[in-house]
Amino acid sequence: MDYTILKTDLSEGILTVTITREKAMNALNARFFEEMDYLLTNLPTEAKLLIITGAGKAFVAGADIAEMADKTPAEGEQFSLLGQSTFCKIENLNIPVIAAVNGYALGGGCELAMACDFRIASTSAVFGQPEVNLGIIPGYGGTQRMARLIGKANAMYLILTAEMITAQEALRMGLVQKVVEPNLLLETTRKIAANILSKGPKAVTLAKMAIRDGLNMPFPEGQKLEARQFGSLFKNEGEVGMKAFLAKQKPSW
Ligand code: CAA
Repeated sequence: MDYTILKTDLSEGILTVTITREKAMNALNARFFEEMDYLLTNLPTEAKLLIITGAGKAFVAGADIAEMADKTPAEGEQFSLLGQSTFCKIENLNIPVIAAVNGYALGGGCELAMACDFRIASTSAVFGQPEVNLGIIPGYGGTQRMARLIGKANAMYLILTAEMITAQEALRMGLVQKVVEPNLLLETTRKIAANILSKGPKAVTLAKMAIRDGLNMPFPEGQKLEARQFGSLFKNEGEVGMKAFLAKQKPSW
């Protein structure tokens, strides 16, 4: 596919995807979902970690309001289901996914960032779910993911007030994991990515899966999943890592 909105760069196992619809603040339109869906189902095998970022002043300023305004209730529901499904594909990738939030992450943009495994933000990032200003509600998983990520009261506060918050405030709420100067955003995110890629690759995948899938299970089931995955690493990558530790050597995975 010839991408018109996404720009991709693959280097040292890290696939960086930049959303480049700058004139519309990277608002998510139908073409974005076509491109993102294609990318997610055709990830190059060399891509071991995905970084999602935006070009210009915005990470993503939300779903494209111009595309939504005339929809009927049934079309609105479909629009929501489509976005939810693409964001679930991001969440369900077995490789780690980091959002490098460079600017406005509003509505569907905040929801996209929340579908990633964690978020690194620049000091110029702004987060919010302003949908109630438009007489709608978050429709790309925001009501569900935000409450799970930062708790019911924080989600209620942000979604019901539509308040836009700074990166520092988002850090305080646990919505982002680190805040850096704008010129250091990609460099810092790539360093974090490289650090993750230096670890046991199977262990990283299974840890991600246990956290993600465990959240959708009752606690005892989540613990069983953890034990199974823990066990599967023995006489496997775990043996390599633990024996290297005991021999005071670096593991060679
Ligand atoms: N959809 C469509 N176009 C958008 C957009 C969006 N979400 N956000 C910005 N744009 C467009 C503007 O209409 C404007 O276009 P024109 O140049 O053709 O007029 C262009 O991007 C630049 O935007 P502004 O002039 O508004 O730039 P600004 O710097 O003054 O403000 C902003 C930036 C605060 C991000 C402001 O654009 C804004 O509030 N955007 C809308 C944010 C929003 O409400 N997002 C939620 C969308 S609904 C949603 O996402 C639902 C869901 O969960 C599925």
